[in-house]
Amino acid sequence: MSSTHHKRRVRKAVFPVAGLGTRFLPATKVMPKEMLPINDRPLIQHVFEEAREAGIEDFIFVTGRHKELLEEHFDYQPELEDTLKARGKTDMLEKVQDSEMPAGRLFLTRQPRPLGLGHAVWCARELIGDEPFAILLPDDLVNYKQGCLSQMIDAYNVHGGNIVAVKDVPRPETNKYGILNIGQDDGHIVSVKGLVEKPKPEDAPSTLSIIGRYVLQPEVFDHLAVFETGAGGEIQLTDAMAKLIGQQPFHGLRFKGDHHDCGGRLGFIKANLAYGMADKEIGAAVRQAILEAAETIKAGGRDVAAE
Ligand code: UTP
Repeated sequence: MSSTHHKRRVRKAVFPVAGLGTRFLPATKVMPKEMLPINDRPLIQHVFEEAREAGIEDFIFVTGRHKELLEEHFDYQPELEDTLKARGKTDMLEKVQDSEMPAGRLFLTRQPRPLGLGHAVWCARELIGDEPFAILLPDDLVNYKQGCLSQMIDAYNVHGGNIVAVKDVPRPETNKYGILNIGQDDGHIVSVKGLVEKPKPEDAPSTLSIIGRYVLQPEVFDHLAVFETGAGGEIQLTDAMAKLIGQQPFHGLRFKGDHHDCGGRLGFIKANLAYGMADKEIGAAVRQAILEAAETIKAGGRDVAAE
């Protein structure tokens, strides 16, 4: 395998945010799913911060209709900042300033129709050009002292090529995820022999699933450009990635940290509980509220909301 260009630095990240977010309707009728907050910041800001920590310099959003709030969120907000300054609210001011995109580093491209994740990524091809890049799905959050993408870049600096973040799922759930066919496995890094999108549990080659973090080589665009539809009639990123196997190094990283799938309501609520419990200011109160709710449930399972 040639590796002349496989360890070039990863400077660019793609954030596909053009989906319809149907699982959260009606909340997402006009508001982007990626603006839903986990604790004090929207999903998109969590992944922006993770990318920034990993050394990403260029932030590429693949957006669509009704998604303008996403770019607004990262802009300078003079009135807000002036007011916070005047009121001496330095903590809040710092939080607001920390959510600002560095000048000239946010790039937008549109996906006119939500034809699938693979198609969304393909829409960023001109902005990526001929260099390796990261993809972060705001649906997936990983909570750990070293961010998930930063862990992946460490692995990339050793192995080069392509890296996906993976975790084990219960076998009955393989039909919801991209699943690995694995070769060597040292418990941390696995070499990938094949990839299959949403296999039936009985057909799944393993139970290692891909979460929404990728470091990929630009050759993936050649395969995406074919517009082949896969599982669910969508243009699947997994299918294009699978074609790189054997041509370039391809590894899965069992990342460290707690993974939250925030793309559905249950995972979203659980993530809010977890990030709430970990919060410096309200953490203790959130724990107390959870304990009280648990007591109420134990005492007879009353519907808390119906009281
Ligand atoms: P999802 O399938 O979880 O998002 O895609 P969705 O389609 O918006 O959600 P539901 O299933 O209808 O509730 C994961 C990520 O990929 C983006 C989404 O915006 C989301 O951040 N995506 C998905 C696109 O940008 N374009 C697509 O065609 C599909």
